[in-house]
Amino acid sequence: MFKGKKIAVIGGGKMGSIIAQGIFERKLFPKRDITVTDIDNARLDFIRSEMRFKVSTDNKKTAKNADIIILAVKPQNMTATLKEFASAIDNSKVVISIAAGIPTTFIEAALPERARVLRVMPNTPALVGEGAAAVAKGICATGADVKLTRTILDAVGISFEVEEKLMDAVTGLSGSGPAYFFLIIEALIEAGIKLGLPRELAAKLSAQTMLGAARLCLQSDKQPAELREMVTSPGGTTAAGLKILEEGKIRDTFICAVETATARSKELAAGK
Ligand SMILES: NC(=O)c1ccc[n+]([C@@H]2O[C@H](COP(=O)([O-])OP(=O)(O)OC[C@H]3O[C@@H](n4cnc5c(N)ncnc54)[C@H](OP(=O)(O)O)[C@@H]3O)[C@@H](O)[C@H]2O)c1
Repeated sequence: MFKGKKIAVIGGGKMGSIIAQGIFERKLFPKRDITVTDIDNARLDFIRSEMRFKVSTDNKKTAKNADIIILAVKPQNMTATLKEFASAIDNSKVVISIAAGIPTTFIEAALPERARVLRVMPNTPALVGEGAAAVAKGICATGADVKLTRTILDAVGISFEVEEKLMDAVTGLSGSGPAYFFLIIEALIEAGIKLGLPRELAAKLSAQTMLGAARLCLQSDKQPAELREMVTSPGGTTAAGLKILEEGKIRDTFICAVETATARSKELAAGK
């Protein structure tokens, strides 16, 4: 799929460099076919000397030489960045944006007609190869472009195609989701410490329990509710703990959190 193709990562910050590393490690692209650009020379020095990628400060030249362009700059830098390389884009190239809240129509309007644009919402566990990402295609992107984008995203986790109107919900759920789970782990650690466990032990037990439960969910053909019931014997310890969580309205709280984050994503996209 990628043989002989060149890829440009515009913006070598946290996400851009994770993606560059992921596609190299998964052998999708050799280093000679990956170029990372940034405006920060110190950052580029690091990417060149420590990560050993080709680097550039010239977005236009890099985009011109590439078949696939990953846009990984902050949303507030998007307009200026698009201006820099728009004239290097034509319908033979695929432009993949990971910027939160920037619609494909916005990017398409800044690029020449018929540009093939896709929008992705990744999340930070991509750092450890466990990202969850959604991709939506713009007006001229093809099904093959979605496949190509998902193959890139799958190098740092798993990915799904969604309609663009669902991107705010994805942002509220899996984009913001890692922070929700960190908060749960924090609370479990506090509980463990209160009950006499050493901090380190409480931290490891909490995080590994969350990881294990998540793996079970992903690998089992059972629904989460069934898995929960399987470990909850009547009158037992888990039932006692769950009763407190339900009384504390944990479900409503999470639903409200995701709804509120989704609404905030819509507001941010509207420039509020
Ligand atoms: N981090 C996350 O968890 C996450 C999750 C989902 C989506 N995203 C999206 O991913 C994108 C990148 O986020 P990030 O956390 O990786 O940000 P970041 O670490 O700030 O990386 C962006 C990089 O782009 C550079 N840059 C700015 N203008 C540029 C230009 N014209 N040409 C080339 N490089 C330029 C920035 O340099 P300066 O720092 O000098 O400006 C910075 O090094 C954002 O749009 C964000 O919405 C991030």
